[in-house]
Amino acid sequence: MASNTAEKLSGLSIGDDWASSCPNLRKNLSLLSPNEVELAKMLLDVGQNHLFGHWPEPGVDDGRKREFFNQVVRLNSSYPGGLVSYIQNARKLLADSKASKNPYDGFTPSVPSGDVLSFGDDNFFRLEEAGIREVRNAAFVLVAGGLGERLGYKGIKLALPAETTTGKCFLQHYIESILALQEASYKCVEGQDRTLIPLVIMTSDDTNAPTLELLESNSYFGMKPTQVKLLKQEKVACLDDNNARLALDINDKYKIQTKPHGHGDVHALLYSSGLLDQWKNAGVKWVLFFQDTNGLLFKAIPASLGVSATKGYNVNSLAVPRKAKEAIGGITKLTHADGRTMVINVEYNQLDPLLRATGHADGDVNCETGFSPYPGNINQLILELEPYIEELKKTRGAIAEFVNPKYKDASKTSFKSSTRLECMMQDYPKTLPPSAKVGFTVIDTWLAYAPVKNNPEDAAKVPKGNPYHSATSGEMAIYRANSLILRKAGVQIADPEIDVFNGQEVEVWPRITWSPRWAVSFSDVKNKVNENCSITQKSTMVINGRNVLLDGLTLDGSLIVNAINEAEVKVAGSIRNKGWILKHADHKDDSLPEEIRMRGFKIEKIEQLEMNYTEPGKFCLSS
Ligand code: UTP
Repeated sequence: MASNTAEKLSGLSIGDDWASSCPNLRKNLSLLSPNEVELAKMLLDVGQNHLFGHWPEPGVDDGRKREFFNQVVRLNSSYPGGLVSYIQNARKLLADSKASKNPYDGFTPSVPSGDVLSFGDDNFFRLEEAGIREVRNAAFVLVAGGLGERLGYKGIKLALPAETTTGKCFLQHYIESILALQEASYKCVEGQDRTLIPLVIMTSDDTNAPTLELLESNSYFGMKPTQVKLLKQEKVACLDDNNARLALDINDKYKIQTKPHGHGDVHALLYSSGLLDQWKNAGVKWVLFFQDTNGLLFKAIPASLGVSATKGYNVNSLAVPRKAKEAIGGITKLTHADGRTMVINVEYNQLDPLLRATGHADGDVNCETGFSPYPGNINQLILELEPYIEELKKTRGAIAEFVNPKYKDASKTSFKSSTRLECMMQDYPKTLPPSAKVGFTVIDTWLAYAPVKNNPEDAAKVPKGNPYHSATSGEMAIYRANSLILRKAGVQIADPEIDVFNGQEVEVWPRITWSPRWAVSFSDVKNKVNENCSITQKSTMVINGRNVLLDGLTLDGSLIVNAINEAEVKVAGSIRNKGWILKHADHKDDSLPEEIRMRGFKIEKIEQLEMNYTEPGKFCLSS
């Protein structure tokens, strides 16, 4: 009787019985708005009573209780189907994980069809040309919401210099590449209306503010601010047990713990942003997805887009040749006993057992090419916009998820720490119908893939022969690719030297870089160099200009050419100076900037020839 009176005084009525299983919530119902009451009902319905277990009487912590519901609103609205779906999906995936269920049960792997490109042959030229024509009909989507925990850089990865000769960060390199492609594409179709190629950057709470700051403090690196759009992904709720009880923050009982959901969020965000329809109406045909630290990618974009355009692929995954058992996912066609098929990335640790279990006694082995027939996925995708929109209308952008709990023991009943559902952008094809045209484009690793993901200590521990994926290897890969491209264009480039930085053995090629407006394709490079040039290993060359022709250059030292677009500069003659030297730096030396420590070297500028052409006209730089 006494408690009934208390309930009446706090405004409760018979209609509040739904909360009877949760007395602490029930006491606080008078504080809640109608919308919050609905959310509270939903949470109890899906077994989340514990979230209110510690709630004190009304009047105590009321502001914190309100904050709790604000977070619930955000978590509920940012997941397709809301928290109910999230919890249901989690229970199913956690049960599958507990039962060690193989996600590929019933599927037989086979090699999908795709295109293997050979840099510099006639087909490559044709595809690059087709890609450049087409790129004016593309939109670029950069996924950059990751924490970068493995790299451990204090800033966002997009702000990291891709290489040291210019110090340009990844974001600047990406934007300049898109602008140069835009220019080159419109040149192919002179007279047509010029629209700007859109760039979307997916950020997260961890990266949104610094990404915006990087853009604004650099005038968007030459893009129109309206050309760039940031879409922020939300984190998802953490889970404490196999019943998907949401985990409360240990330091704040009014806060649900959250963690990133993975780059797969990009599809739901694009869908809900309404951008895809806007793009379609503006004539966009292709959406190119890429990641935050691959300094080589744009060398592979024109030819890969050319493949999409000429083959009519709805989905084109960029890939690199993969050695059997190499720690990189393989692009695989999976056919189910019930007739379903899909072409997707299968993680390397799942590919070998899957092959063995389906009649390939040797598992993941190389074929006659010396490589695995399953190409290595590098997570750069080209999607055709119209079928993409049609698919997202069905799925609302929801992507197949997975869960990876760290169990306390073999009983798999409790976790070492909370877990969450995750999703990957490359799992998009999993829901596509068999009629979808899903292919891949294999491009040499040296040309297409050198991400910066690992800190120096971890990179040094990478087994010999496997890629370091560090700031050191990422930068050296840029010099190597540029040297090899010039070599293939006929320039004599000296062989590299081997050196060790931060415990990583790398090839050191001449430090050659060029701005994207100099060349977006191999045919651009061929048109701008004559075969009568040579560059020594100790040299550095930075070309920052559109109309710079190398004709008769012999370089042994450092040369920097800066030229406005209207200046035509012929670089000839013999240039010799003391140049720029690579000095070893220890990653443990706290007196050095982090950007230097993480690569294990710095450039000491002893002597260089730097030429600046700031007026229109024709010029010749000769010794
Ligand atoms: P990475 O594999 O590099 O992961 O992501 P990460 O989260 O950035 O780094 P670690 O694992 O903490 O060391 C591949 C790409 O996907 C983006 C990253 O920014 C990177 O471009 N990403 C990753 C997102 O956009 N959102 C995420 O939730 C995770």
